[in-house]
Amino acid sequence: MYYHFMNHEGTLNMKSIIPAAGLGTRFLPATKCSPKELLPVLDKPVIQYVVEEALEPEGVDAVVIVNSHEKPQIESYFAEDKAFEDMLRSRGKGALADAVHEAGALPVSFVYQDDPKGLGHAVYCAKDEMDGDPFFVLLGDYFVPDRQMCVNMQKVSREHNGASVIAVAPVPADQVNRYGIIAGECVGSLDGAATADEEEGAVWKVTGMVEKPSVEEAPSHLFIVGRYLLSPRIMDLLATQGKGAGGEIQLTDAMLRLLDEEEMYALVVDPDQGCDTGTPAAWAATNARMALADPAQRAAFIEALGKDVKLG
Ligand code: G1P
Repeated sequence: MYYHFMNHEGTLNMKSIIPAAGLGTRFLPATKCSPKELLPVLDKPVIQYVVEEALEPEGVDAVVIVNSHEKPQIESYFAEDKAFEDMLRSRGKGALADAVHEAGALPVSFVYQDDPKGLGHAVYCAKDEMDGDPFFVLLGDYFVPDRQMCVNMQKVSREHNGASVIAVAPVPADQVNRYGIIAGECVGSLDGAATADEEEGAVWKVTGMVEKPSVEEAPSHLFIVGRYLLSPRIMDLLATQGKGAGGEIQLTDAMLRLLDEEEMYALVVDPDQGCDTGTPAAWAATNARMALADPAQRAAFIEALGKDVKLG
């Protein structure tokens, strides 16, 4: 039995989950009193890019952020602030007022995970908000500027009766122990794009997966990138999911159990399609990359770097 993406009225109606309850220890001391999700990439906080990406697939009309009560600033950011907008407008700063309005108007709601028990537990915290529908999960340390990764995953799902789909990408053998790694076989490609099994666009039927395996245990070189389109059944499985790697309730372990009941597919993506913001170095590089790609910032960025800066 596979899930179809239509609700009773025949319309699409889904939500996306963004886990954001982490402590942000990699960015201390910057994250001592400001959540890492609000670190800016150019003029927008990282999490806004992820929210905008999360809303891109057809039928997704809301985002649920799994937050902790320690980080109320994230909620403040997505709240409407009419007085501030009016003040900006009265000073002739209409474009900035529009930008502030846009952040406050995004369809974002919050649930809480005050006990960091793992990614699987974070996703489970949003169960009641999903209304029994399939949903996307987007990990927040990474965003895809063209917002097409989840859209492509949705296409693959539709080609396979609404099955769950995860994004994967090749990883060097010595890094498999940092990620979830899948087992499976290549069964085709999205829009006929890929010609090789591990090339961008290849579609795999997933037969197994393991969280943070050793090199010997790893069943393939394909790691789970942090974009998931999941059957609602995963929530029932997460309810009883025990601790796994690192003593945490792992989403990967619940997905492995889901494979006993439902089909699951993996879409091979190019991880460089997205921008990593998970470490200070990656975040700084992402700012540079986005500045160079933005016609309004590019020239000023190159000038600000100064002629003495030699890259490489
Ligand atoms: C999580 C997932 C893992 C995935 C990774 C991608 O791990 O558990 O399967 O490969 O995200 O970034 P974490 O980075 O939270 O340890």
